[in-house]
Amino acid sequence: MAIALEVLPTAALAAEAAARRFTLAATAAIESRGRFVVALSGGSTPRAMYAQLATASLASTLDWSRVEVLWGDERCVPPDHEASNYRMAREALFEPYAVPEKSILRMRGEIEPALAAQEYEDALALLATQHGETIYRHDLMLLGMGDDGHTASLFPGTEALSEQVRRVAANYVPKLGAWRLTMTLPLLNQSRHVLFLVSGDKNPELLEQVLAGGSEYPAARINPPNGQLTWMIGERA
Ligand code: 6PG
Repeated sequence: MAIALEVLPTAALAAEAAARRFTLAATAAIESRGRFVVALSGGSTPRAMYAQLATASLASTLDWSRVEVLWGDERCVPPDHEASNYRMAREALFEPYAVPEKSILRMRGEIEPALAAQEYEDALALLATQHGETIYRHDLMLLGMGDDGHTASLFPGTEALSEQVRRVAANYVPKLGAWRLTMTLPLLNQSRHVLFLVSGDKNPELLEQVLAGGSEYPAARINPPNGQLTWMIGERA
């Protein structure tokens, strides 16, 4: 595993750098494998990156018909709910760029969580078989980090964090009093490239402990053995 740390002076510059990384990864994957498989993260930080894909007119350079868009996690809400990670991406990226529906594999947060997780896991298994892979490998896995060191919807002390078999799980998060859908560590760590995009308003001590590998934090347990791990941090919001 190769690790890179990029610290940019502002969150905006970090978002722009992440957008450029996204485009480079997409172009390289499409050239070498004919497709780009990317999982988007939730939360608010990715919105700035999507905007940069537009501002730098990077998104319009991509052949979206060759892109497979997935999510590392999703809230258990309908797709038009304000908390939906899908809705945020649809508004900020898919609609502006007319990304074809067939390129988008949405986690169905509106149905029973365990069923939605199984459905997504089965879809990934089918796609992996179609790709001639034993496990679905993302060319780029976009992740964020919460103030408690969670990533995707793998929160400290929750059941899905210790899942070693299932690749997608329904995860009840007591601190939120809510269910989430999330990819698990076995799948996340199969990625060819994991890109953390973290705004500088996160607790600096937490960030330091995670980067030092403090395994009590889920974000510190992302270490793709056969992939690249990049932390992109914006110094201040
Ligand atoms: C989610 C995310 C979550 C997010 C972090 C950081 O669905 O909320 O997947 O893991 O990446 O909470 O969120 P911000 O980017 O808003 O700081």
